[in-house]
Amino acid sequence: MFNVFKFQSSMNNYRFFILSRLFFACFGFIGAQQVYAQSTPPAGKGKFTPIAQWYDDKGVAINAHGGGVLFKDNVYYWFGEHKVAGSAGNTSQVGVHCYSSTNLYDWKDEGIALPMSDDERSDIVKGCVLERPKVIYNAKTKKYVMWFHLELKGKGYSAARTGLAISDKPTGPYRYIRSYRPNAGKMPFYPKGTPDSDRVNATIVKEQDKFFMRDFAGGQMARDMTLFVDDDGKAYHIFSSEENYTLHVAELNADYTAHTGKFSRVYIGQQTEAPAIFKRNGIYYMIGSGCTGWAPNAARLFRAKSIFGPWEYLGNPCIGPNKELTYGGQSTYVLNVNGKKNALIFMADKWEPKNAIDGRYIWLPITFTGDDVKVVWKDSWDLGDLGK
Ligand code: GAL
Repeated sequence: MFNVFKFQSSMNNYRFFILSRLFFACFGFIGAQQVYAQSTPPAGKGKFTPIAQWYDDKGVAINAHGGGVLFKDNVYYWFGEHKVAGSAGNTSQVGVHCYSSTNLYDWKDEGIALPMSDDERSDIVKGCVLERPKVIYNAKTKKYVMWFHLELKGKGYSAARTGLAISDKPTGPYRYIRSYRPNAGKMPFYPKGTPDSDRVNATIVKEQDKFFMRDFAGGQMARDMTLFVDDDGKAYHIFSSEENYTLHVAELNADYTAHTGKFSRVYIGQQTEAPAIFKRNGIYYMIGSGCTGWAPNAARLFRAKSIFGPWEYLGNPCIGPNKELTYGGQSTYVLNVNGKKNALIFMADKWEPKNAIDGRYIWLPITFTGDDVKVVWKDSWDLGDLGK
């Protein structure tokens, strides 16, 4: 339910968020001189060690931030933002990096799946901000479809577009297609059970709907995002919209290459970022974060019977030290191992905005007691810990 006090405190958070971005833009060079140390893979293979440095088959630190994993023909493909050293790494200088694995512990470097362009006229020219890339496979077209959050070079975070790239092979090269703000001119879909207070009234615009109406004609903002393919093959793009105040769950077309115009709004006015979705026993779960830029905050769990909602807010699912700050990380994806029912991995990033390349990965098992979902901290764990 919308509440004016929360909305004002949200506005303060938003100011903090903008100021912190400016701060990093101005002073982020501190640390840019830090030399990035490579070393051979440490002992402990066959284990996940959150926050420790993880190395690929060449002994180079894995560079795939804000990522997601595609499972295809018994191979896992991890896609993420390739970051460079210093604060320059908060912009996209290289592209989307891809790694492959058959066991989730050992990762082979597959190179840059979508390179940034040298052409200043391209939306994805070096120096733009391309974040949170996710790839899904379309069985009908046999194409690998990548969506990401795109900010145009030199425009801060104001473009708030989603971008699309397509490939014939999982590892790429991906061909950039277009970027835009989705669902222009479309009103939301209201799943059964949506309270009246959550319905947009275009004639009497409520405070929590003002950004939605502002962007109605030109398309809705699309920042932090994930993709989800349901059991029936339909795919959804879930993203932070409306100046990050409200999440949108939007249906993609049969080719996964465009938005159909059907979408719902989730947790209106409450600033959810970093969405990650999974489905278990026919119930949809979403883990996200609050909105504090690169700084960590508490994770938030939601549950729904339909992908469009209504989504029920269930609080923080994390257990263990530093649980109020998601162990220093921010969600990026939930990986369903081999499609098995209880084999779900919570994937998060521990950001290092002053030296972006040194961001780390926090992967943890998701545990269940009945339908109760928790993420539990472990210094070290393996796939045998899943489903416990
Ligand atoms: C975070 C967001 C990241 C990135 C960052 C920039 O809140 O989840 O993907 O956009 O802000 O400050």
